[in-house]
Amino acid sequence: MKPKKYIIKKGKIYWPSKEMKKIAWVSNEKIYEIASRNPVKFWEEKAKEGIKWEELWKKTYEEKLPYFEWFKDGKLNFCVNCLDRHLDKGSKTALIWIPEPTKEKPIKLNYAELYDKVNRFANVLKKQGIKKGDVVAIYLPILPETLIAMLACTRIGAIHSVVFSAFSADALKARIQDGKAKLLITADGYYRRGKEENLLEKAIKATEKTTVKKIIVVSRLRKKKRGGKFLDFQKEIEKAYSYCKPEIMNSEDIMFILYTSGTTGKPKGIVHDTGGYAVQAYWTTKWNFNLHEDDIMWCTADIGWITGHTYAFYGPLLNGSTTLIYEGAPDFPNPGRWWKIIDENKVTVFYTAPTAIRMFMKVGDKWLKKYKLNSLRILGTVGEPIDEDTWMWYFKKIGKGRCPIIDTWWQTETGGTSINVLPGIGPFIPTVAGKSFPGTKHIVVDEKGKKVKEGKGGFLVQVPPFAPGMLHGVYNNHKKYVETYWRYWTKFKKRYYNTSDGAYVKNGLIRVTGRTDDVMKVAGHRLATAELENAINDSKYVNESAVVPIPDKIKGQVPVAFVVLERGEPSINLEKELKKHVDKKIGPTARPSKIYFVNDLPKTRSGKIMRRILKNLLNNEEPKGLMTLVNPEAVERIKEVLKENST
Ligand code: WT7
Repeated sequence: MKPKKYIIKKGKIYWPSKEMKKIAWVSNEKIYEIASRNPVKFWEEKAKEGIKWEELWKKTYEEKLPYFEWFKDGKLNFCVNCLDRHLDKGSKTALIWIPEPTKEKPIKLNYAELYDKVNRFANVLKKQGIKKGDVVAIYLPILPETLIAMLACTRIGAIHSVVFSAFSADALKARIQDGKAKLLITADGYYRRGKEENLLEKAIKATEKTTVKKIIVVSRLRKKKRGGKFLDFQKEIEKAYSYCKPEIMNSEDIMFILYTSGTTGKPKGIVHDTGGYAVQAYWTTKWNFNLHEDDIMWCTADIGWITGHTYAFYGPLLNGSTTLIYEGAPDFPNPGRWWKIIDENKVTVFYTAPTAIRMFMKVGDKWLKKYKLNSLRILGTVGEPIDEDTWMWYFKKIGKGRCPIIDTWWQTETGGTSINVLPGIGPFIPTVAGKSFPGTKHIVVDEKGKKVKEGKGGFLVQVPPFAPGMLHGVYNNHKKYVETYWRYWTKFKKRYYNTSDGAYVKNGLIRVTGRTDDVMKVAGHRLATAELENAINDSKYVNESAVVPIPDKIKGQVPVAFVVLERGEPSINLEKELKKHVDKKIGPTARPSKIYFVNDLPKTRSGKIMRRILKNLLNNEEPKGLMTLVNPEAVERIKEVLKENST
């Protein structure tokens, strides 16, 4: 059968076809107007329709800036919403896990099996003394056990704090300490590009002298047995009782924290609640990806990021659908791997990041030849602005001109998608994210919060009522929360959530242009300039440093560092040494692509490093504003260093 065409071209833009309109959950654009007339009522109805509550709330929305609450005093359990309520069709596949080694078989878990394991593991956690409100750190790659562990936390009301498995021991330790985690769940390792990666060694180092007293280890590489503070995930599950009564939570109780980079050196623990997050995750998954129960959704994000939380795990399960996850590298054993997985498993919804698409564009279309990709219905993109070439390639080569591309703009802080078009409504325009999700509103303003005219660039802000999935603070750091997100409120009494992104509006559609603060996006990963500088400055060789992003064809941006040495001489070896140091402090994702050794950094009279000037120099642009520098001669010397290095 020829696959259906879900979109059509009209003029220069694309619209949903009749076929798409027919299958779409929403196809009438009046939904935006209806929702905006009374957003609180809209979300109230959606919350009742999409989520199972043990007790309804007393107040739908209450705003006491900089905080706001949704479904106040409403009671629910998140895990019940993901699993228990789908048990009437327990034999339906909930999870398909694809291991990286090609000789290993995928693991499928249906809702009944997943329910059994989650209940047992919830009892394992309880046996270890974990109670409602305790923080459990999870340092796991993409494994079925990762999902089991996270859901088990939500079943007993423990707060999960997932840390990206490629982060270093130091980075894990900082997150464990900030959250005062009581327990760590990790694995002995995992496979990446055919190699065994050791995770446990890093985990052991990270937990030294911390609040973590026990480590539960998933035996992925079947390494040797351990005793003492180590427990074996599988063995404990087998011993545990198969039912655990769900802890009934308040909607506003914390469900998880997830660390992300801000403009300072220290990552912030973004706090998400239970009820509001569930509502946002349920409806955005359902409407953006037009998810039906027979869909198989594959979101390629790692569980260390919010996209992994909301769209690889929770969104599809809340909807009683099937989620597919893959352990390994996109190009292992060859760059056809992803497309093979799509064909073999008949994936219908595929959600990935521009950086991955650019990588596939570069390796060439020959890796696609063997694959039909005709099960695909909807494509999604997230993480950074997508350029037109990448959009078109994704659209033509992967979607075969049949599938809409849903460009979703959002952040760790928003919990779920915030700005994108809906597949049954459109339009689908390369590089344009589109409209605020129904019931939500964003505008573009200037420095002082004055709305700018259509077509003019400015700062993207969200206006009230703030979406139910929005963050509920920074863990144990009120000050940071206020400073980062509420400057328009504290300075100009405007009720705007500051996204730190730049954007403009054209024909009522929003185009997001990128971060406006000192945060870069390296292969879709969020990285603060200051975080990287702190890591570099921590080396005994370094006196001070400045980090700036430069454009990269695949990764979007990569960091470059300028370093003033404290001791030692500039050399290739020292450059290598410092890169290794960054790997140790943060992880290889943050490794600078190049380190320039300089004598001095351009600074203002007040001692502020002028990164803008360094950026100019890297781009061969004549820097402006040298008059404000206390050391303009530094610029000339840096120019020489750049020249020497280019030859
Ligand atoms: C930042 C948030 C939210 C999931 C993954 C990233 C950028 C994200 C888009 C998009 C343009 C985008 C923004 C945002 N971003 N999606 N579709 N178009 N920019 O989450 O790590 O919290 O990063 O990613 O700059 O602020 P995150």
